[in-house]
Formats: sequence, C-alpha cells, structure tokens
Amino acid sequence: MSITIDSIKKITVIGAGAMGRQIAMTAALAGYQTTVQDISQDMLDAASAEMRGWAESRVAKGKLEQATADAALANLVWETDLERAAANADFVIEAATERLDIKRGIFESLGSLAPQHAILATNSSTLGSSKVADASGRAEQVCNMHFFNPALVMKCVEVVRHESTSDNTVDVAMELARRMGKEPVLINREIPGFIANRVMGAINKESLFLYENGYASKEDIDGAIRTGLGHPMGPFELMDMVGLDVIDFIAQATYQETGAEEDKPNESISKLVAEGKFGRKSGEGFYEYTK
Ligand code: 3HC
Repeated sequence: MSITIDSIKKITVIGAGAMGRQIAMTAALAGYQTTVQDISQDMLDAASAEMRGWAESRVAKGKLEQATADAALANLVWETDLERAAANADFVIEAATERLDIKRGIFESLGSLAPQHAILATNSSTLGSSKVADASGRAEQVCNMHFFNPALVMKCVEVVRHESTSDNTVDVAMELARRMGKEPVLINREIPGFIANRVMGAINKESLFLYENGYASKEDIDGAIRTGLGHPMGPFELMDMVGLDVIDFIAQATYQETGAEEDKPNESISKLVAEGKFGRKSGEGFYEYTK
C-alpha cells in the first residue's frame, strides 16, 4: 500500500521514555497531532511535565513563540491504551524498551490495531526492523527511524530499510523526518549500530583503550576530542549522557549478532553498569554528577 507524505496527519509514538517524549514533541512542533502511548501513567505524567517545562523555558529564553509552544502542547495526547493510540495513526514510531520480545509484541498488535495504510517505524538503534517486520503482517511498511539523544536538538535521523521495505515507506519516512526539522540519512542494508553508533563505538573503544592503559586521563581524552576534533562532547561525557546501560546494551546486542572479537563489550563499562553507575541519570558513571 502506498501513501503520500501529505496524507500524514496523525503520528503515534510508542514509549514515553527519554527518546519517545522528545520525538513526540518534535512531531507536535512540526504540526502533527501526536499521541504518545506508554503502559505507565507515571511515565506519561513525567514526560508531559518535562515537555511542558522544556517549552516554557524555551519561550522564556525567547527561542520559541508562546503560540507555537501552546499549539505543540495542544497537539499532544498522552495515552496508556495501545488500541486507542493506534486507531487513527498514519505513522507510528515505536520507541519502547530495547527488547526484541517487547518490540515484536508491539508490532504484532500494531499490525491489527493501526490503519492498513499506516507506516510502522522503530527507533531502535540496535535491532534492525527486519526483526519485527514480519510480526506486523505488513513488512513492506516497516523500517527503522533512529533518532539521537537529545532528539529535540540532534538533527540526524537514520532511516534504515530492510530487504522488503518498500520505496514508498523509505520516501515517506525520509520526508517526514525532514518535515520534523531533521536531516535524515539512508542506510540501504541493515548492519548493527547503523552509521553513527558504529563510528561512536569505534571512538569509545579507542578512548577506553587509552584510558585503561594509562596513556591519558578521561578528562584529557575528552578534552582532546572536544578541542582537537571539534566534537561537542568528549567520549566519556557522551557515554555518561547516553547512559552506560544503553551503551552496554548496544555492545551486548551487537556482539550477540556478529560474534566478532572487536565487538566484545567493554568490561569497565559492564562493571560500572553492574554497580548501578549508569552515568548522568544515576548520578555517577565515568564522572560524578551532583545534580
Ligand atoms: N533536551 C532538550 N534540549 C536540550 C537538552 C536536552 N536533554 N540538552 C540541551 N538541550 C538544548 C538546550 O536547551 C539548548 O537549546 P538552545 O540553544 O536552543 O537554547 C541547546 O540544546 C544547547 O544546550 P546547552 O547550551 O545547554 O549545552 P551544549 O551547547 O553543550 O549542548 C548538547 C548540549 C546538545 C547535548 C551538545 O553537547 C551535544 O550535541 N552533544 C552531543 C550529543 C550527541 O552526540 N548525541 C548523540 C548520542 S548517541 C545516540 O543518541 C544514539 C543512541 O542510539 C545511543
């Protein structure tokens, strides 16, 4: 089934976590009626409060018109029920927990709950959409649409096609990302980590090698990457921001898929994760955070 970008009016985002809520706000700012679905009402409440606060602070800074903020917030609906959330969706972006069984369950439900014409995308950074496409019964309308953290700020969206993704699905996903103010890139064949996470993984790996072998402190490695290569954050700062649990999960999933020696998860990170040190969100990772 083919659809046009102009026929897309309603977007549903599954999952109100750190990524889902910002993807939803980005869609709402672009004028789409956006429903955010999460099984946890607490998560929805936290997400709604954070996005309201974000909009208020941008208005206060003079970076967002009050009317635009109000319109975006009015475009958002927060919903625990998947059936109601999917019922009128033209485009679904799944940003739920990075677990294959959970995602397959969601895609199976979406296959029967979302309108036949709806495209179903997953924000997964590790699981290619081929792993969930068959569960939906509409594999050609399924792809990855991978946003970056923080999704309200980062311009990149990786659109990844699997073997049966139709050209129409790819074209609409790319154009939707553009209309959401992003600069999408296309990955023609699935590979774990896609483009950016693979390159970030290589930088992280080399940085960890230098740090663990005492060639330089993490502060100096971060400094070199910031001021020598012009990255906004050093690798240790960035890993702490992304979440060491997320970094570890990506590494484990990649290693499981490739079995390649060079993809082996880093032991220092796995150890920090086992100690509950996830980075910024837990107050400590490579660095300590007082707030
Ligand atoms: N949510 C929403 N907006 C945020 C934000 C957040 N968490 N953090 C910062 N911002 C906004 C600020 O409001 C500010 O907006 P404004 O300029 O319009 O007022 C702008 O971003 C800049 O913020 P700051 O001035 O506070 O700080 P910086 O200039 O240092 O920018 C940063 C912060 C945008 C996070 C920047 O350091 C950066 O780009 N870092 C690299 C981030 C990155 O590489 N992300 C990708 C991670 S990998 C990934 O997500 C893939 C996944 O699969 C793991």
